Amino acid sequence: MTALDGFIAGLPKAELHMHLEGSLEPALMLALAKRNGVELPYATVEAAEAAYDFDELQDFLDLYYRGTSVLRTAEDFHDLTWAYLERVRRDNAIHVELFFDPQAHTARGVAFVTVIGGIESALLAARRQCGITSRLILCFLRHLSEAEGFATLEAALPFRDRIAGVGLDSSERGHPPSKFARLFRKAGELGFLRVAHAGEEGPPDYVREAVDLLGIDRLDHGNRALEDPALVERLRKMQMTFTVCPLSNLRLKGVARLEDHPLRRMLEAGLRVTVNSDDPAYFGGYLGENYRAIARALGLDRAALATLARNSFLGSFMTPEERSAALGRLDAYLATAG
Ligand code: HPA
Ligand code: ZN
Repeated sequence: MTALDGFIAGLPKAELHMHLEGSLEPALMLALAKRNGVELPYATVEAAEAAYDFDELQDFLDLYYRGTSVLRTAEDFHDLTWAYLERVRRDNAIHVELFFDPQAHTARGVAFVTVIGGIESALLAARRQCGITSRLILCFLRHLSEAEGFATLEAALPFRDRIAGVGLDSSERGHPPSKFARLFRKAGELGFLRVAHAGEEGPPDYVREAVDLLGIDRLDHGNRALEDPALVERLRKMQMTFTVCPLSNLRLKGVARLEDHPLRRMLEAGLRVTVNSDDPAYFGGYLGENYRAIARALGLDRAALATLARNSFLGSFMTPEERSAALGRLDAYLATAG
């Protein structure tokens, strides 16, 4: 471990862009398949990993949705969530905001209450045992219809107080944010915070739509906004938080090499950038690995890394008390870290 890796390991941080279903490690996938009598096309961890070779977002999504088929009971969702929390705790994540895709489960006959019940019991245990605070963000699958989105929002209402916000994920190309303008307006009226994936593969116009038509409080990915200087200036002035996912961008070929990643340019443009893992079981690294890989590739120094961690708290949906406590922990760490 280099000195910089040690600095990263100790840095208190929040993760703001992580799909719970994307934290399903092959070993757990196989164990749950066995527990639930589900057939998978892979017999071993190695065979599953060998299939994780993607040219673009859709290649990954096909495997990701197939993987979700092993998740059936509240215990499965608990085990999935707990495995992630135990892992990210070792990266010194003190706060996490997790995406989940209810439509990937309700379409298979798994009840909404089963999904959220299992996730919540693990979040509660992490809060009690590890002091990790958390928020849940319900993502609508953008390849499905607006009507299906409205039905999902309705199904979420009994759990309104346990879900901080709504998001938009899945296949970006051909499914612009404008398709969900009315759904997001309704979610906003119901008091949900709003985020959306935009500019991962889609053009800068999709980012503009996410801001103007969905009323987003935070932007997931946003990389392609950089192609439009006027948009960058607007997002900088708004202090829009970008949840950037370096290893995801590499594995889905948004960048050919991590050295070409736009994160440094985003920081230099004054954007509020954060680092996140997206789907760590599929993209080769959890939160700490994303920090280490991007620091190495772009030659980021401690000050830049501290800014990324600070941004993760500033861009989070923490309460003001939680945020000031987290920033206090960060400042205390920076004051003592050699
Ligand atoms: N992009 C879009 N949708 C997703 C992703 C992603 O990386 N992971 C899970 N759903
Ligand atoms: Zn994502």
